[in-house]
Amino acid sequence: MTRSHQSVWTQEDYDNYIEAVRARPVYEPPTAFAIGLASHTLVNAGEPEVMFGGAQVLDTWYPHVNLMEHFDTAAVLADVTGHSTGSASRSLSRTNIEMVLRIFGPLEGDGKYHPNIEILKALHQLLTSPDHTKTLVPQTVVVTFIGSLDDPPVDVHDCYLRLHLLSHRRVQPRSINLSGLIGLLPNVLWTSEGPLAPETFEMAKLQCLARGVHLRVFGVDKFPHMTDYVVPSGVRVADASRVRLGAHLAKGTTVMQEGFCNFNAGTLGPSMVEGRISQGVLVGAGSDIGGGASIMGTLSGGGKEVITIGDGCLLGANSGTGISLGPGCQVQQGVYVLSNGPIRLQPEGTVVRTWELSGRPNLRYWRNSLTGELEAGPTKAAVQLNPELHTKQ
Ligand SMILES: CC(C)(COP(=O)(O)OP(=O)(O)OC[C@H]1O[C@@H](n2cnc3c(N)ncnc32)[C@H](O)[C@@H]1OP(=O)(O)O)[C@@H](O)C(=O)NCCC(=O)NCCS
Repeated sequence: MTRSHQSVWTQEDYDNYIEAVRARPVYEPPTAFAIGLASHTLVNAGEPEVMFGGAQVLDTWYPHVNLMEHFDTAAVLADVTGHSTGSASRSLSRTNIEMVLRIFGPLEGDGKYHPNIEILKALHQLLTSPDHTKTLVPQTVVVTFIGSLDDPPVDVHDCYLRLHLLSHRRVQPRSINLSGLIGLLPNVLWTSEGPLAPETFEMAKLQCLARGVHLRVFGVDKFPHMTDYVVPSGVRVADASRVRLGAHLAKGTTVMQEGFCNFNAGTLGPSMVEGRISQGVLVGAGSDIGGGASIMGTLSGGGKEVITIGDGCLLGANSGTGISLGPGCQVQQGVYVLSNGPIRLQPEGTVVRTWELSGRPNLRYWRNSLTGELEAGPTKAAVQLNPELHTKQ
């Protein structure tokens, strides 16, 4: 720091300071960064306000994410927390936040909206609120920097920032490195009182009962519900438990109760989702994934093909596919287009392997009810989404 953190900052001080930090040879601006609120393991349920060193991180919520932007803010946060380059998460103490807010003083009243500053102010208020120490789950404020999204995540905070970037639609599924993410994420008990480590359940429940609170458990999983962290604009999610954080739902997407969307997967335009979108799957604009339909994933079960469903496709009710569908394809109700195996191509009548048709546009797939054979041929008419269901969401 070139200037005392205690004094009042002028615009000139601010400009000089930013220039000095950004000019440091060791400093590299992050690709992405965000200020977050992290929950930690309830190490001692009897004293929830006491957070022991090394308490496990359970989750991190980032009210705002920054991707290739707000470089001055990143420089201030990096300097105050001692970060210089690469990916890392740093704790932001109350004193740190006060320091940062003082540095940002000259921006006060400049008529512009500064989302990161607003969040810091709100978090400062939260940390100083007497109610904060009464929460069951100990929380800390962190700032997470990601040097490059091509490199794998380095810690739990980093994993959560990548999942937020996906659900905020700042990055598309399959476009960032998520290797090792599942291993880094802890298994968490998602409850009405916040995230808990599964092994602290009994003590936490007893403690809640003592306060007259009935602790509800919504799941035990590595991923929380997306809508507890990110609510993207222009989407409908009928049952929040069916969409994991890290799902990418484009504007105009409706996920009905039977629908499901995993992390690093989702839709690229208005679509109706009444079936399951597995990890890594992309669904194009104007597509309809019918009730109970299944799209083969690659996380478990040996599936290797990462599936893309093109624009304007229809997966009929209880159908499924193990290959990619090109734009304008339709799979009849109840028909599974296997990832491999023979299929008769009509009207020629030639037999090919299903994977040879992967990604081919305007094909209709059905199982011939007279011969039992899986068949494919040109579609007759395009399928349109019901406009009433996908506008004004
Ligand atoms: C795939 C689908 C869109 C095709 O619809 P389509 O283009 O109108 O096709 P048709 O049903 O008219 O069938 C075309 C021809 O194939 C024949 N055919 C259809 N299914 C057949 C089958 N399983 N075996 C043998 N012949 C079949 C039809 O008899 C028809 O023959 P014709 O032209 O001599 O009359 C439709 O069958 C379908 O499955 N829709 C799904 C609806 C749905 O589930 N939506 C989601 C709700 S949650």
